[in-house]
Amino acid sequence: MPPPSLYPHAAEVTAPPSLAMRSLLFVPADSAKKLDRAMTSGADAIIVDLEDSIAPDGKARARDSAAAFLRAAMTSAARPYMMVRVNGLQTGLTDADLDAVAAAKPDAIMLPKAEGGASVIHADAKLAVREAKNGLADGHIKILPIATETAAALFVAGTFAGASARLIGLTWGAEDLSAEIGAQANRDPQGNFLDPYRLARTLCLAGAAAAQVPAIDTVYVDFRNADGFRRECEEACRDGFTGKMAIHPAQVPIINEVFTPSAKAIEHAQAIVDAFAASPGAGVVGIGGVMYDRPHLARAEQMLGRAASPRRAGA
Ligand code: COA
Ligand code: MG
Repeated sequence: MPPPSLYPHAAEVTAPPSLAMRSLLFVPADSAKKLDRAMTSGADAIIVDLEDSIAPDGKARARDSAAAFLRAAMTSAARPYMMVRVNGLQTGLTDADLDAVAAAKPDAIMLPKAEGGASVIHADAKLAVREAKNGLADGHIKILPIATETAAALFVAGTFAGASARLIGLTWGAEDLSAEIGAQANRDPQGNFLDPYRLARTLCLAGAAAAQVPAIDTVYVDFRNADGFRRECEEACRDGFTGKMAIHPAQVPIINEVFTPSAKAIEHAQAIVDAFAASPGAGVVGIGGVMYDRPHLARAEQMLGRAASPRRAGA
């Protein structure tokens, strides 16, 4: 007979959600109106923000508001995936944030200003304590780090692999990074990210792939510019991001549209998978005069997996 587990709930820990989170909408935790509106925005995930959109002396009130919202929202049947962006581990505010929201059982926390796998291990330990206190399964609350907000973070972006089973993805940020670097801007006049931020973006993609979790693209602050936003979504999708964060509800349908594989793309991926299935043992196949080998098969399988996964935690 196996020895009794030290962690009786461990078997209940759910697998991290699939790669299917396309749109993640930020909502300041102190705005009940925006929180309500976010529920019907069509976003796959809501990020209740306790960090940068909340002024320092508004933190306590925002925690109460976040907890009240979560308690109600988590019982809704068709709810989006529910995250809370806590304040970074450097601030001394993280413990009070977690104490306020853990009992409401959010699906995940977003960890800003993360610095590699070490900060995920640190947050993991903090979450384990709150889960034990609140009777939650060990590992219930997942972690989505923002991996590039400090200069030091860039040098450890490759250390997330294996840090914690809570890790559900990686995302990146350019606003705090540009403040820390002391730059005057992070985008050129056409709206394209400048070199340091393109590096951060690439490190997020590579760090996520190395940790075998999805990469989520950063926010686009010019929220009335729908064309620029769509272009940035398309570039992110092309480069391997599986979703993007939004700051305004109008950005959500654009993200969902761009990051949902089209019928044509699904058909093409299926043709690649079928061609390999029809030639067992083949390393390479030709379809319509174009060569496809094993990396193309892996990519086609990934895409079909994404297209088939449920969109929401409640779905
Ligand atoms: N989530 C939910 N609802 C939102 C929203 C959001 N992120 N942003 C705006 N809305 C709502 C507004 O409350 C407004 O509702 P109403 O029609 O019932 O009045 C409606 O959408 C239209 O908003 P609009 O007037 O276009 O924008 P705004 O000037 O009210 O707000 C921001 C602009 C940037 C302040 C707002 O979008 C916002 O708070 N974004 C999130 C900021 C954030 O979390 N930042 C941290 C991460 S970078
Ligand atoms: Mg920030």
